[in-house]
Amino acid sequence: MKFGSLLALVWIMALAGCARQSIHAPVAPGVAIIPAPQWLMVTGGELRLAGAVDVSADADAPRARRALDEVLGRVGLATSAQAATRLQLRRVDDPTLGDEGYRLRIDDGITLEARTDAGLFYAVETLRQLLPPAPPAKGHAITLPQLAITDVPAYRWRGSSLDVARSFLPVSYLKAHIDRMAFFKLNRLHLHLTDDQGWRIEIKRYPRLTEIGGASAVKGGRPGFYTQAELRELVAYAAARNVTIVPEIDLPSHIQAAISAYHQLACDDVTNLGPYAGIDVGFNILCLQKPDVVYPFVRNVLTEVAAIFPSEYLHIGGDEIKNPLYADFVARAAGIVNDLGRKAIVWEEGSVAATRPDTLLQLWNDKYPTAAATAEGHRWILSPCSHFYLDHGNYPGQPDTQTWCRNGVPLERVYRFDPRAYPPAAGVEGDLWSEFVPTDAATDNRLWPRLAAVAEVAWRDPASPLDYPGFLRRLRALRPQFDAMHIRYYAGPEVWGK
Ligand code: ACM
Repeated sequence: MKFGSLLALVWIMALAGCARQSIHAPVAPGVAIIPAPQWLMVTGGELRLAGAVDVSADADAPRARRALDEVLGRVGLATSAQAATRLQLRRVDDPTLGDEGYRLRIDDGITLEARTDAGLFYAVETLRQLLPPAPPAKGHAITLPQLAITDVPAYRWRGSSLDVARSFLPVSYLKAHIDRMAFFKLNRLHLHLTDDQGWRIEIKRYPRLTEIGGASAVKGGRPGFYTQAELRELVAYAAARNVTIVPEIDLPSHIQAAISAYHQLACDDVTNLGPYAGIDVGFNILCLQKPDVVYPFVRNVLTEVAAIFPSEYLHIGGDEIKNPLYADFVARAAGIVNDLGRKAIVWEEGSVAATRPDTLLQLWNDKYPTAAATAEGHRWILSPCSHFYLDHGNYPGQPDTQTWCRNGVPLERVYRFDPRAYPPAAGVEGDLWSEFVPTDAATDNRLWPRLAAVAEVAWRDPASPLDYPGFLRRLRALRPQFDAMHIRYYAGPEVWGK
């Protein structure tokens, strides 16, 4: 090898080493990004931003542009063609960036590039994490580290689910949650809209679902429901932040709220027809022996749901019921979803049903047997309870948390989840059930910061080395951002330091 080539090789290796160090060794001051980018190189030096930047943005990136204006506004930077620093936001035809990847370069200007508006949106979210959460003190400039990032997510499905059925969450909370999800590049908000304790989505054909079913809640929880207009607005709000809302109508069990509204959905010998505020499961079911009642109901409800939510997938539940007609029901309900031009998601138990291979299955018991459905071509959303059920404690013994799966699901356990030990996955999802989570503050406490670790698992290359101390350092560096987003996170010293 010629000396020149050798030098070049050493130089490339040094750069590669530098990139690794930037991510996996102590985080350089000012470089704290969650989820960690796939490739990051700190090039040395700083960019000072004072007063204004000169923005040039491609017109076909409206989500990214809106987000950029918000980010600049938050730190008090104006846009001006006379400003010394250029900020370019542009779409590039680079297939290696996929649908959500991006490049971000900070040198004597800032360049954000991606193939899609979604990718550029994430470049902006990374820039947001590098910036302070508020304007600098008077007379001070903002400084950014000079760096280069190329970043692509490992998984398409980077999910958070909220159980608004046991206890309702107001639209204002959901909007704040969508903003927080976007900050961590989470992109699927799975709303568990119906359960025994409450029915939260207006269905115009069956008004009693929300008149009666919306008025109940788990003991201590909040009743309520969303109108279709509210949900449509929420869908648009989420889409502007690259979040798809995936609605779940839990069938054929977890259905007492609907039965309390329309008694004919239950079998004729059922006497337990009132609203339910307890926490048992699997005690009532749509009467599968009355297909002439049940299937028109399912079709009519899902037709209205599909008209509100443009999501590629509709979730039909399917958990926690044993019934001889169960598999037939799941196959027929998934077929209705397919008739509506959508793909179905079913909890893991639905793997016994004959559904199309593009039906996603959602794993929730760590050891559920997955091989047969995987062999049929199904892919999975991974939510094994011992890693991703966020209704379990931030620490063992936390009051008002579940323990049936595990006594405590601490942050480190979420972070250390290895998707490679599971079947082929569309991605991962952190799930929050609300039997014991009746307020916005409690919801924040269970979600954060663990959902930031879910985001890291969903984005990072699972083959790259784990570094929990490094993750904690990045998390702590982002604490002012958590505070600025008014997140009432779990504040244990093992997470945030003494
Ligand atoms: C579930 O936790 N029943 C999906």
